[in-house]
Amino acid sequence: MRTILAGLAVAGLALCSAVASVAHAAEPSPELIAYGKTLVEAGDCAGCHTADPAKPFAGGKRIDTPFGAIYAPNLTPDRDTGIGAWLDSDFTRALRYGIAPDGSNYYPAFPYPYFTKMTKDDTLAIRAYLGTLAPVTSRNKPPELRWPFGYRGLIRVWNAVYFKPGLFEPDQSKSAAWNRGGYLVTGLGHCGACHTPKIISAPTGTRRRYPAMRSAAGSPRASMAPPAPG
Ligand code: HEC
Ligand code: HEC
Repeated sequence: MRTILAGLAVAGLALCSAVASVAHAAEPSPELIAYGKTLVEAGDCAGCHTADPAKPFAGGKRIDTPFGAIYAPNLTPDRDTGIGAWLDSDFTRALRYGIAPDGSNYYPAFPYPYFTKMTKDDTLAIRAYLGTLAPVTSRNKPPELRWPFGYRGLIRVWNAVYFKPGLFEPDQSKSAAWNRGGYLVTGLGHCGACHTPKIISAPTGTRRRYPAMRSAAGSPRASMAPPAPG
């Protein structure tokens, strides 16, 4: 009896996931795509992923870090050089955990330490919008980082110390608008990436959030940005 019940439960699960994948395969609605576009704008994905304005999101833009340069990859739906062949779960894992489909780690120059606060549904809205772009064939350049930073295994050490994965936790004593703002500022908007000193050593630093930038010698990006008010 127990085995039959267990068997039924497994069959039920299989059925549920079959239904879920059919639902996923459906074309995203225009509303979802439009919402994804607003999120892509709020997250300024193009700011790093567009090198040539004639080829939006096709990557190749150089991002300088204190450890050398890294190039943002192609986010268009090209199957070979973009993300067209990715599963939705690959996309969510990259954004929320900084892990590539092959299991390797991304450098935190990609603001996944902030994007981790985003819901899975929001990541999929972003994916739906990116899926509507014209595919561009453009293979990304490899990073040009100083020894030993070219070794991606080191990112695991950095993650263990600094990366706190997890969704934004709403403060129930505050209004819905306050929480929506908090969700955007600490997550998708990654405001702290520029408005917090020393992005590399303490990117999501909780001790000193958005302070004045006078002492921010550690980060070229931070030293350009004034404190965000509030
Ligand atoms: C501050 C610059 C920056 C911003 C802003 C940024 N990214 Fe990136 N992103 C990067 C860099 C750099 C990498 C590559 C990291 C690496 O190679 O380790 C990357 C990698 C990625 C990848 C992995 C792609 C692949 O082919 O492996 C995805 C997906 C991605 N970004 C999506 C986004 C989305 C969506 C947004 C906006 C919500 C965004 N990024 C905003 C810099 C940025
Ligand atoms: C890629 C780096 C970067 C990110 C991310 C970023 N900012 Fe900024 N921000 C800057 C820079 C640089 C300036 C100064 C621009 C100027 O003076 O023209 C600035 C200026 C500002 C100002 C004007 C402050 C003043 O004193 O003049 C505000 C407000 C602000 N940012 C808020 C935000 C918010 C909110 C977010 C997140 C949604 C954010 N920023 C994300 C780099 C950034």
